[in-house]
Amino acid sequence: MGLLIRGGEIVTAESRSRADILIEDETISRIGLDFDVPAGTEVIDATGKLIFPGFIDPHVHIHLPFMATFAKDTHATASKAALIGGTTTFIEMVCPSRNEDALDGYNVWKQKAGGHSACDYAFHMAVTRYDANTEAQLREIVEDGTASFKIFLAYKNFFGVTDEEMFNTLTLASSLGVITTAHCENAELVGQLQQLLLAEGKTGPEWHEPSRPEAVEAEGTSRFATFLGQTGATGYVVHLSCAPALRAAVEAKLRGVKLHVESVLPHFLLDKSYAERAGVEGMKHVMSPPLRDKRNLQVLWSALKAGLIDTVGTDHCPFDTAQKLLGAKAFAQIPNGIPGIEDRVNLMFTYGVKRGGLDLHRFVDALSTRAAKLFGLFPRKGTIAVGSDADLVVYDTEYRGTVSASTQHCNNDYSGFEGFAIEGRPSVVTVRGKVQVRDGVFVGEPGRGRMIRRKPQYFAQGVTHAG
Ligand code: URP
Ligand code: ZN
Ligand code: ZN
Repeated sequence: MGLLIRGGEIVTAESRSRADILIEDETISRIGLDFDVPAGTEVIDATGKLIFPGFIDPHVHIHLPFMATFAKDTHATASKAALIGGTTTFIEMVCPSRNEDALDGYNVWKQKAGGHSACDYAFHMAVTRYDANTEAQLREIVEDGTASFKIFLAYKNFFGVTDEEMFNTLTLASSLGVITTAHCENAELVGQLQQLLLAEGKTGPEWHEPSRPEAVEAEGTSRFATFLGQTGATGYVVHLSCAPALRAAVEAKLRGVKLHVESVLPHFLLDKSYAERAGVEGMKHVMSPPLRDKRNLQVLWSALKAGLIDTVGTDHCPFDTAQKLLGAKAFAQIPNGIPGIEDRVNLMFTYGVKRGGLDLHRFVDALSTRAAKLFGLFPRKGTIAVGSDADLVVYDTEYRGTVSASTQHCNNDYSGFEGFAIEGRPSVVTVRGKVQVRDGVFVGEPGRGRMIRRKPQYFAQGVTHAG
C-alpha cells in the first residue's frame, strides 16, 4: 500500500515548497499538487508541519568495547531512540582494538546490527593497526560497501595509530577513493599530561579537560591535515571542539587539503563547567575531545552557520552512572562518551534554528544532506526527491518539551542534556516509506533497518602534496 503525505511544507538543503509526497515501493514516486493517488493509499495529514529528509547521524557508537567496559546501547535500543528523534540513518564506527583482527571485528559489528536496527545504517571502518594483512582486509571491507575509514590519533595502544600507520592508511585510502575520518588529539601528550596531573593528586573529572587541552587537539588536527596533503587523501575531522583546532582545519583547507569538518552535539551546547560538577555528575560529562571553555561554543555556532563546519553528528556513546564510576579514583579511567542520538535534531533545531539564527536549509544540510554527500549516500538519502528513499520527518514546530532521562529511549540512566527545553519534535518518521514513529512513540517494525552499501568516490588525480 502506498503512502501520501499531504499538505506539509517540504524543506531540503536548497529549497522550501508546499507539495504532497507520494511514496510507493519504499521510494518517493511523486512530488506535487493535485495529482491522482492510487486507490488504497494511506494519507498522512502534514498541514502546518515541515517535512525534512530523514536526518543522518554520521558518528555513533553502539557496540563499543572501550575503557574496560561496553557502551550500553544495543542496535535495537539506539535505533529506536534515533528514529524517535528524527534520525533515519546512522553511520556507526566499527572499532576493533589494536589486538583484534580487523575483518573479524567488521563481521562482529555487522552481526550486531543486522536484523536488529529499526533504521538504516552504514559503517566507518576503524583502522587501529596496519600490518601485512591490513591492505587485503580493507579492500574486502570497501568491496562490501563500507567506503570510509576511521583512525584515532588518540587512545595510544588501544585504538590509536602511529604516524607510520596513519601514512599507510591514508595512502591506501587515496588509492581506493575512500574518505578517512579521524579523531585528532596527540596521544603522547594526553598520556603524559594525565600522568602528571594524577601524580599531583588531581584525580576528579574536572582534570579531564586540562589533560587534553585545546593545543593537543589543534596539533592532532594539523598533523592529520599535513598527512592528508602529502598523501592526496580526503579526510574528515570528527568531533572538532575548539577554536584552535578549527583554525588548523581552515588553514589546511586554504592550502588545498581535502578536509571536511564535523562537530558534535555536546560541543555546541555544553561547556567544561558540566564536567567540573562534583562527583559522578561531572563524570557523566566526560568525553574526548573534552567539553571546552565556553568561548568556543560561539565559535562553533558561527563556523556551522558559515559552512566551515560541514556536519553535526552526536558521537553518541552511552555509559551509565555505574560505568562512569569506574573512574571515581582517576579521571583517566572514566569511560569517555555522552549519549545524544535521540536529541540531536530537536536540540539543534531549538538552539540553532529557533533561538540561534541558524538558517533552516543549513540545518538540513549539516544534519542530513552534507553527510549523505560526503559518505556516498546521496541522493538515495539526504534529500526529498523522486527516486530517493522515502525517509521523511514530518516535523511539529509547535511541540514543547524537555529532555530527560526519565523519558528517553536510549539505554542509559542519565541524559547529558537533562532539563534542556525543546521547541519542536518529529510527529511522523518514515524509513523507506514505512511509518516507524508517531509523536514520540515507536510504532514500526523493530528490525527493518538495512545496511546501506556505499561506493568509493574520492579518486585523486595524482598526489597533490597540498602541505
Ligand atoms: O568520548 C568519546 N568521544 N567517546 C567515544 C569514542 C570517541 O573518541 O569517539
Ligand atoms: Zn573520538
Ligand atoms: Zn566517536
